[in-house]
Amino acid sequence: MASSVVVLGIQWGDEGKGKVVDLLTERCEAVVRFQGGHNAGHTLVIDGHKTVLHLVPSGILRPQVRCLIGNGVVVAPDALIAELDALEGAGIEARTRLMISAACPVILPSHVALDQAREKKKGSKAIGTTGRGIGPAYEDKAARRAIRFGELLDPDSCASRVEELVDYHNFLLTERFAAKPVDVAFSVASCHSWSDALGSLVGDVSQELEDLCKFNANVLFEGAQGALLDIDHGTYPFVTSSNTTAGAAASGSGIGPLELSTVVGVIKAYVTRVGSGPFPTELFDSVGAHLAKKGHEFGATTGRPRRCGWFDAVSARRACWLNSVSSLCVTKLDVLDGLSELAICTGYRINGQVLDRPPSGAATLADCEPIYEIVPGWKESTASIRVIGELPPLARAYLNRLEELLGVPVDIVSTGPDRDDTIILRHPFPQS
Ligand code: GDP
Ligand code: IMO
Ligand code: MG
Repeated sequence: MASSVVVLGIQWGDEGKGKVVDLLTERCEAVVRFQGGHNAGHTLVIDGHKTVLHLVPSGILRPQVRCLIGNGVVVAPDALIAELDALEGAGIEARTRLMISAACPVILPSHVALDQAREKKKGSKAIGTTGRGIGPAYEDKAARRAIRFGELLDPDSCASRVEELVDYHNFLLTERFAAKPVDVAFSVASCHSWSDALGSLVGDVSQELEDLCKFNANVLFEGAQGALLDIDHGTYPFVTSSNTTAGAAASGSGIGPLELSTVVGVIKAYVTRVGSGPFPTELFDSVGAHLAKKGHEFGATTGRPRRCGWFDAVSARRACWLNSVSSLCVTKLDVLDGLSELAICTGYRINGQVLDRPPSGAATLADCEPIYEIVPGWKESTASIRVIGELPPLARAYLNRLEELLGVPVDIVSTGPDRDDTIILRHPFPQS
């Protein structure tokens, strides 16, 4: 029996999705990205060799895997070309295995300029976006004026639509933000060159998925960002501009929701966040600095330092519900090695009340005070352990407690960045 498995982050991104997707695609025929864009940075480490992917799905290092970019993804063609060139320079056949949905909105240089101009104007209230044009590109999609990938193939009509759109962006840039306009002719010429470079990769991803399902193929749906950055359910307005939750796997790729069999929620053994916004369990002390240093917590896309804090079961509970998480993958357990005590946030206190689910809205969340349960840490190293029985008893107790608090089994544990530094208790793609 074939499976369609969604693998997504259930915190604020950077949970280690890329590593897990790469590992699990061993048993897959295809992997699909369904939302986000090159704001994502997914790190794969194989035998010590590191690859960071932004748009290309994390199955690309497995020669048998087809990589699909679904309609829900906003695509920056220059970034995609650079990524494909880098992969091919490293000897990985990428273009022959990649398909881009004709319905993907294109990120233009003026989207990037708008993203950065908006952030600059917000000053201290900035969201801390990746500055990649993601928000403005999704705005144009919702406003029904986006240039979609398939349109690049019709140069004449594309040129006039691009002129009109960039003209509108330039009005906003100059009149609203006192920023420099973008060159219209350059934008049109870019679209023509993107068509030449990527046109042959444009296809019907939904049909491809239907065919894969008919042939009982295993397919993995790769989330970007994390549930707490979801445009509707995250810490709005400090969120990204797409739905990052499991429902988007269907709408963002072109598959019926009942085809999806399992949802694996990837979750760090602690929490990190890049950019602004409330973070109840954030640590400002030496423990936070220790986690950042030991976990190498710097953004894979922007290189910004990631804020670090204790595990938050309150937001994780909500994320498990939002995504129908049926299986947990806990990553970076090794980063907690050697700490004498660990804290787990089991509730929030606000205005004398105790909450076991997060309140809506960033402002209220910012006023929540975490309620901690203190558990003992372990002295031994868990780094690179691949068998559950070899974990120190207190590390197992920590995982059991997370399982209890979230009501979802921990089926995978990651103990290092390398593909093989992993304990798999139950594989989401059963061996046939
Ligand atoms: P993603 O965006 O969810 O794919 O995650 P990122 O790649 O942005 O960030 C995760 C970082 O943690 C990367 O540098 C990974 O190589 C690293 N990593 C993943 N799993 C583990 C783990 O279990 N232990 C350690 N120490 N590092 C890990
Ligand atoms: P992966 O897939 C962590 C954050 C940004 C910012 C907010 C909005 O690697 O987990 P955007 O550029 O999307 O408009 O920025 O979302 N953000 C991420 N944080 N991991 C990511 O992706 C992120 N993608 C966006 O830092 O706070
Ligand atoms: Mg990342």
